[in-house]
Amino acid sequence: MRYLIAAPLLATLAGCAPFTGPEAGRTLYTQNCASCHGADARGGAQIPDLTQITARAGGSYPQDRVLDKLDGYARGQTAYAGAEMPNFGDLLTGRLTRVQSATGLSREMPEKIVALDAYLRSIQR
Ligand code: HEC
Repeated sequence: MRYLIAAPLLATLAGCAPFTGPEAGRTLYTQNCASCHGADARGGAQIPDLTQITARAGGSYPQDRVLDKLDGYARGQTAYAGAEMPNFGDLLTGRLTRVQSATGLSREMPEKIVALDAYLRSIQR
């Protein structure tokens, strides 16, 4: 009886977490972002420190802004010494998932972008 209850729950968890969770995001980060932002995400002279996103935003993680940045929507809106972050076409492909942000906005986004967002959120200091 207990198995009958646990099985669908586990299936549900397994269905989302591996593709949109921080672990998946960390892999994508290493492949696509570490070259500029650094393996530790601390950035550099012309590259923002990604562990300080929450701190820079005054204490609460600005998820909508980060998602906009990652899907290229906010490209060029933040200038760090004139440097710009590239667009990542490949990250925008693949399965979509729906995200409900803290501000109540519901939007459909690629799973890879959602995973990266989850990873960035997990490394805030
Ligand atoms: C070619 C170097 C480069 C790569 C690769 C890169 N970035 Fe960036 N990133 C930048 C620069 C430069 C900025 C600052 C200018 C801007 O915001 O466009 C930035 C800004 C950002 C910001 C906004 C930070 C803030 O507080 O405003 C986020 C979030 C971010 N990057 C995440 C990522 C992620 C996630 C990846 C991998 C998918 C990535 N970056 C790959 C150079 C890069």
